[in-house]
Amino acid sequence: MSISYKDLGLVNSRELLKKAVDGGYAIPAYNFNNLEQIQAILQACVETKSPVILQVSSGARKYANSTLLRNLARGAVEYVKELGYEIPIVLHLDHGDTFELCKDCIDNGFSSVMIDGSHHSYEDNIALTKKVVEYAHKHDVTVEGELGVLAGIEDDVVAEHHTYTEPDEVIDFVSRTGVDSLAISIGTSHGANKFTPEQCTRDENGVLVPPPLRFDILEEIEKKIPGFPIVLHGSSSVPQKYVETINQYGGDLKDSIGIPEEQLRKAAKSAVCKINIDSDGRLAMTAAVREVMATKPGEFDPRKYLGPARDELKQLYMHKNNNVLGSAGKA
Ligand code: G3H
Ligand code: 13P
Ligand code: ZN
Repeated sequence: MSISYKDLGLVNSRELLKKAVDGGYAIPAYNFNNLEQIQAILQACVETKSPVILQVSSGARKYANSTLLRNLARGAVEYVKELGYEIPIVLHLDHGDTFELCKDCIDNGFSSVMIDGSHHSYEDNIALTKKVVEYAHKHDVTVEGELGVLAGIEDDVVAEHHTYTEPDEVIDFVSRTGVDSLAISIGTSHGANKFTPEQCTRDENGVLVPPPLRFDILEEIEKKIPGFPIVLHGSSSVPQKYVETINQYGGDLKDSIGIPEEQLRKAAKSAVCKINIDSDGRLAMTAAVREVMATKPGEFDPRKYLGPARDELKQLYMHKNNNVLGSAGKA
């Protein structure tokens, strides 16, 4: 028996993204795989009064079991009421790769899905995306498509180099597929190693500065499809304080470089209205867990290390909403 997101009090992303484009900010899209992550995301978004997109990847479904995971998300609306302030919540499939996966999510309470056909040929991407849109729109579920390929790892797919989105293709893609939003490739990538040190320059303090995002391509895209909601994946900034804590307490992260926050702030003021962040949350939690493990060797209650990890994640996401995405106060 299928269940509609509307019966769960969730919303699709249409109105939220439109308001964000018009208002010059971006809605946070944070991934979760477990209880502590969803708690931190919802607490941070309630405290900053921000709308939120809860993202579930197929890796998350495999890790946590799709039934348990969606039931966690189904509790989100009641949980935020208990926290004292109602915010709009979208439950979104991140990087759906088949029609069947998207359909399963739509039939089970998701209000938004991504169909990522970016690794297929252009025509195959269009055909797959259009099929998902037709099914999703019958259920008033919104769909994100992707044009262009991000360097890095997306689930099991590894792309060595970026293929930037081709501005000349966007009108055709958007009109033939009917997507509600479009993920583009302008220099972001997944994971905590977005650039090699060789790709960076150094500022006067010797700090590595990565090459800027391709705002020229973004501007071209905006001219072709004015006001159309644009999504940025791979938008972690890789805070060096977490990398340092992880390495201080026995970790071994090398060349961990992300997208500078000022660049994301600039993007959020444009038609970029959904920004995906996962790796920064992983770094925050890992730093907190490592610190407890190293400084309290007698501790063996998972709540005593997952609790601090959750608290650090909440602080990080409050900072993103307040200072990077500009979504605070928009709920
Ligand atoms: O884009 C990928 C997201 O960070 C999700 O990662 O596939 O390892 O769950 P995952
Ligand atoms: P990061 O790896 O940069 O956090 O990107 C996450 C993402 O794009 C999820 O879809
Ligand atoms: Zn992504």
